[in-house]
Amino acid sequence: MLIVRAIIVATLISSVAAGPWGQICAGNPMNKARGCDGYGCGYYAAPRKDGRRKHLGVDVICRDGSTVYAPFSGMIERRINPHGGSSVIDNGVQLRGSGFCVQMFYIRPVKYRGRINKGQTIGEMMPMQRVYPGITSHVHVQKCNRFNVTRYL
Ligand SMILES: *[C@@H]1O[C@H](CO)[C@@H](O)[C@H](O)[C@H]1NC(C)=O
Repeated sequence: MLIVRAIIVATLISSVAAGPWGQICAGNPMNKARGCDGYGCGYYAAPRKDGRRKHLGVDVICRDGSTVYAPFSGMIERRINPHGGSSVIDNGVQLRGSGFCVQMFYIRPVKYRGRINKGQTIGEMMPMQRVYPGITSHVHVQKCNRFNVTRYL
């Protein structure tokens, strides 16, 4: 009985992120963002090496191979290739629904189109360590209009 209760409590906790959206990556129930590492920082508007580009999303910590969940219910609209097709982690999707539109990068999605509900598996975290050894592996989440996504996570 105690074990059953512990499992129920753990399930409830794991579905509660800090913001209104659901948990994005297995193992990171609070949608904790990547801090800074040798490649840069994970917060919104963090500077990038070339000095011109800013980071217009938030990097949600996610170990390679982890299950990734839909943060809200909606439609997967299309595939996104953040690196223009040039690396093994170059994959992602655009998700629209519940009044939001986001792009999620570095995941191998379960599908490129169609309905998905909050908390359902949307994909798997790709092998980011192979491309950026030592980086804090993460799902990059950005609003389609590139506005500040931080408070939803
Ligand atoms: C983004 O939003 C967060 C949370 O509301 C805030 O702390 C942060 O300063 C914002 N960043 C920018 C660049 O506006």
